[in-house]
Amino acid sequence: MRQKLIAGNWKMNGSRSFNANWVKGFNEAMSQCVTQSQAAVMVCVPSPYLSQMSDLLKGSQLALGAQDVSAFDKGAYTGEVSLSMLEDLGAQAVIIGHSERRAYHAENDAMVAKKVKATISSSLMPIVCLGETQEQRLAGQTQSVIATQLKAVMDVLDPDFERLVVAYEPVWAIGTGLTASPEQAQEVHAFIREQLSQKTRHANALKILYGGSMNAQNASSLLSQPDVDGGLIGGASLVTQDFVKIILAAGI
Ligand code: PGA
Repeated sequence: MRQKLIAGNWKMNGSRSFNANWVKGFNEAMSQCVTQSQAAVMVCVPSPYLSQMSDLLKGSQLALGAQDVSAFDKGAYTGEVSLSMLEDLGAQAVIIGHSERRAYHAENDAMVAKKVKATISSSLMPIVCLGETQEQRLAGQTQSVIATQLKAVMDVLDPDFERLVVAYEPVWAIGTGLTASPEQAQEVHAFIREQLSQKTRHANALKILYGGSMNAQNASSLLSQPDVDGGLIGGASLVTQDFVKIILAAGI
């Protein structure tokens, strides 16, 4: 059985005081839970706050992630943050190829693949995001878009790779309040797993997260789908009460 993973993606939100309050609120909300969730939990914060969050989360079960990384080791890449810096700051995972990076920072499949390849040889777990736009879905291109995005990544990995988390994030569902139905999510997740199984014997062990307006209300129906192994949560992860409800929905 795959352990579920609930990962918050704060995007460009937070401040030193917000972060401290968030951790306090999160710990309080978790301590009031009657049942314990078996899900792994992570929060992916803006790079400038990794150090503070790493201190705040010492001794907690909450893992820390970053939201992007440079494909390069070091050197003349103004504004970029390297993998070794993220490691140094306490990050254990990094989101790669989020649709907002693809859309606003011109990250293409080749760049995403390069970042995943670099990350695989670090201590960080890559969480690679895939997803179709509304236009592509309406044109019946969902599977071909996902297959192309995933192939670019799998082509740079060794056969039988084991270290990869995939997040299916339909672009039309991100921050819009529109959510894929549990059936729509399951259909794409099963397709992703089938694609993974063509390259690795470990496809059944790999986590495929769903992201896109997952919230306290819709989490349990999405998370109960057989191939939905967790969530990448944007807006709802900023509100500790909601985030904790999603963690509980990921259940036992
Ligand atoms: P959302 O964002 O939950 O606010 O839709 C998810 C994501 O973009 O990772």
